[in-house]
Amino acid sequence: MLSNAGSATDELFLSFGPRPESRIEEPGRKPSHRQDDHDSEPAGGSTVNRVHLTVNGERKEVSCAPGDTLLAVLRDRLGLLGTKFGCGIGYCGACTVLVDGAAAHSCCLLAATLDEREITTIEGVGSGVPDATQQAFLDEGAVQCGYCTPGFVLSVRALLAENPDPTEAEVRAFLTGNICRCSGFAAIVRAALAAGRSQQ
Ligand code: FES
Ligand code: FES
Repeated sequence: MLSNAGSATDELFLSFGPRPESRIEEPGRKPSHRQDDHDSEPAGGSTVNRVHLTVNGERKEVSCAPGDTLLAVLRDRLGLLGTKFGCGIGYCGACTVLVDGAAAHSCCLLAATLDEREITTIEGVGSGVPDATQQAFLDEGAVQCGYCTPGFVLSVRALLAENPDPTEAEVRAFLTGNICRCSGFAAIVRAALAAGRSQQ
C-alpha cells in the first residue's frame, strides 16, 4: 500500500500500486456522451444498482452493472474523458481521481460501492483558470502528456491536502501510484513542491 492510501475510505479502495490479483476487467467501450441529469443504461447486462454520486460538485445518478468500474462510468456514461484508461489493473495512475478527497485508481473501484461518494476528476479542478497545482505544473514544465498529467495533478492535490509542506522524499513516495512511461519525474516533483509552497 502506498502513502496516498490510508483514508477512511480504504475499505472501498483497492490500494495503489501493483495488484495484479485485483484486476477488474474494463467493460466494453461505448461511444462517450454527456448528459446533465441522467446517464444512459449500462451496455448489455442487467441494471442492478442506481448509484448516486457527486461528481465535480454535480449530483449524478448512474445505473451500474456489478462489474462497472468508476473509470468506465466517468468516461463512458458521464463523458468525463480527462480520466484516462491506461493499464486497467492499478499500476499506472492514469485513471486517478479523488474519492472524498483521497486519490484512488478509478479502474480498480466498482462504481456500485460508491453510493453517496464525492468524486473529483480533472474536469473539476480549476474553474476556467488553472488552480495552484495546475499553475505549478505549467510553471515547472511538468505538463508532459495528456495521459499521465491529469492523474499526477490529482495525486498532488491529494498529497497537499494531507501534507501541505511535503519534502521531496514525501512527494516521490506519494507519487509512486502514478507512472510516466516516457519522460521523467523531476519536473513533476518540482511542481508538487512549488504548489505546496504557493499555498503556504
Ligand atoms: S488505468 Fe488505473 S492504474 Fe492504470
Ligand atoms: S506518460 Fe505522460 S509524459 Fe510519460
